[in-house]
Amino acid sequence: MTATPTARPAPSGESTARAASAPFLLDRHLTEADRTAALAADVRAGLCSVPKELPPKWFYDGAGSRLFDEITRLPEYYPTRRERTILRARAGEIAALTGAETLIELGSGTSEKTRLLLDALAARGSLCSIVPFDVDDTVLAAAGAELAREYPGVVVHGVVGDFQQHVGLLPAGGRRLIVFLGGTIGNLRAPERHHLLAALRTGAGPDDALLLGTDLVKDPCRLVAAYDDAAGVTAAFNRNVLAVINRELDGNLDAEAFHHVAIWDPDEEWIEMRLRSSLEQRARLGALDLEVTFERGEQLRTEISAKFRREGVEAELAGAGWRMAHWWPDPTGDFAVSLSLPASSLPASSLPVSSVPAASPSAAPPAG
Ligand code: SAH
Ligand code: AVI
Repeated sequence: MTATPTARPAPSGESTARAASAPFLLDRHLTEADRTAALAADVRAGLCSVPKELPPKWFYDGAGSRLFDEITRLPEYYPTRRERTILRARAGEIAALTGAETLIELGSGTSEKTRLLLDALAARGSLCSIVPFDVDDTVLAAAGAELAREYPGVVVHGVVGDFQQHVGLLPAGGRRLIVFLGGTIGNLRAPERHHLLAALRTGAGPDDALLLGTDLVKDPCRLVAAYDDAAGVTAAFNRNVLAVINRELDGNLDAEAFHHVAIWDPDEEWIEMRLRSSLEQRARLGALDLEVTFERGEQLRTEISAKFRREGVEAELAGAGWRMAHWWPDPTGDFAVSLSLPASSLPASSLPVSSVPAASPSAAPPAG
């Protein structure tokens, strides 16, 4: 479904005015109704499971996206600054290596750092279109309008969607640079990461490229501080998922009765964010006709944020049919950006099920 941006109001009057003066296309692969249905299914499954768990994508409504933006400026939260340093140093090289005509950004948010790439592609004269893709239509509407104003003559084609479901519907054509920044890939588990990278590879043409930002394993004290900041912004971001559930599913979860927790799991090498119930409580979710109970001290996992090592990133990319051509860590070694190209052949596991040849005695490889 393609339209000029309308469906939900832009977050402020100012953004609405800008949207009106700088029109851009908006595709909705996730309507309000789809979003509510998906949230309902995740909440029913996640709050009825043991231990309780919710996927992190539900942090991001207008308030959640603004809180994330605030997080990126916190002294403890280094990933945004480190990734910006890398992009500032490498944007020209990335533009020259890819010659991209279309920049597609998954989990685009405000697309703030992405301007470094867009400016480099525009300076090179190759940039024709920008495709910001995000699950939160409020942040997308504002960012899309800004991009359309800042890059006149470039088509801005926003997509509201879930990158775990809808990357097969990305616009095709031209040399495409797919960017996935911020370390957001770390908010997925390994099988989900494989699924996404393989789906991107399946849809990639021979001249496409993938630019991936990954946060790296480091001193756990710094990691915990980055996810439990002194000002309490990350705690507010974490609790925002309860506000989203209450609003969209007619709930009465008491956000004040949950304590923000950030812990490092050394075996998984990921940070976990949780909400710990400070008392025994019961809440009702009217839209689900569901009552949920929490024991005192019971924890609800709301996010994992995996941290990576070079070998792991390279192996995951290779397993999904991508050849890592460049690995650019920042000077402190906190964060890295990699540029990958389609490998000459796809691993069988990244082919869509329908294209995997059926096993037959003649086609099967020799045993052992
Ligand atoms: N890329 C930006 C924003 C990162 S925050 C940066 O580097 O700063 C993560 C972004 O991904 C948010 O804007 C959120 O709305 C979006 N997001 C999270 N899960 C998503 C999903 N499953 N599909 C699409 N977007 C998602
Ligand atoms: C979006 N994502 C990469 C952030 C992260 O660091 O995992 C989300 C976040 N969670 C807490 N602070 C920031």
